[in-house]
Amino acid sequence: MDLLFVSAGCVAGCAVSDSLASGGFYLVDPSCRGRGVGTELWQARLLYLADRNLGITAVPSRIEPNSRKGFAQVSFYVAEYEGVPIREKITTSDVPGVDVETFRASDMGNLTAYDAKIHTVPRERVISVWVSQAGATTLVARRGPHVVGYGCLLQLPGDRYSLSPVYADDPETGDMLLNKLLVLTPSQSVINLGIIENNAIGQQLVSTHQFHCSIRLARLYNKHDVSLPLQKVYAFSCPGVGLL
Ligand SMILES: CC(C)(COP(=O)(O)OP(=O)(O)OC[C@H]1O[C@@H](n2cnc3c(N)ncnc32)[C@H](O)[C@@H]1OP(=O)(O)O)[C@@H](O)C(=O)NCCC(=O)NCCS
Repeated sequence: MDLLFVSAGCVAGCAVSDSLASGGFYLVDPSCRGRGVGTELWQARLLYLADRNLGITAVPSRIEPNSRKGFAQVSFYVAEYEGVPIREKITTSDVPGVDVETFRASDMGNLTAYDAKIHTVPRERVISVWVSQAGATTLVARRGPHVVGYGCLLQLPGDRYSLSPVYADDPETGDMLLNKLLVLTPSQSVINLGIIENNAIGQQLVSTHQFHCSIRLARLYNKHDVSLPLQKVYAFSCPGVGLL
């Protein structure tokens, strides 16, 4: 991810491949807004990314302005939720034939291969940074030798935890990973997670625990939609960087 900085704001653009890019962090200091800084940053990013199909994640107030700027293709919506889990409602049942273990360094190859089936590009560097950061716990689900899902929990400042990402091949494994990660959090801690709209397991979880939706974000593209197996995405909380 390359950052194009001016003192008053920032924007990021990542050339994922020759034909695809992902952007985020479009932000101008409130004291400098309305003076063209954002527009300049925006143009600089487009120039840098050339003809690539660019995916960005928009807050509600930017969906319409972005559409006018050519980001008319709405790919999917992510609802960001937060709340304190109701402990007695965290389920502990296992899925027959699926083993869940804490990530070990020797899992990296299999985990990266699994992740590449969900994202459009191999993400070994992203994953290795993500799972090894302080306060991170990663669970890997396997059916026999095959990875069938994984999920990450990250401790944030102030007794908060982010559940992201949680990927699984089937709803039962997705549900199990979500609950096994929730149970690892201390009681009274606040959980943040993003649910792809229409993901029934995620919706059920946030409704069971009475989490509230803080914002609904839209994934937009300026050329065409990108096909991703969204049914395997059970939690995703950093859409600024994007599902690629
Ligand atoms: C969105 C944001 C980055 C824009 O930055 P900015 O420096 O205020 O942007 P500009 O001054 O270049 O332009 C603001 C608007 O005025 C318009 N404008 C700029 N100069 C203009 C001029 N001389 N005459 C007429 N219109 C002008 C731009 O077209 C732009 O319209 P848009 O909202 O449809 O894009 C800024 O408002 C922000 O940080 N918002 C909070 C964070 C956020 O929402 N980020 C986006 C996440 S998706």
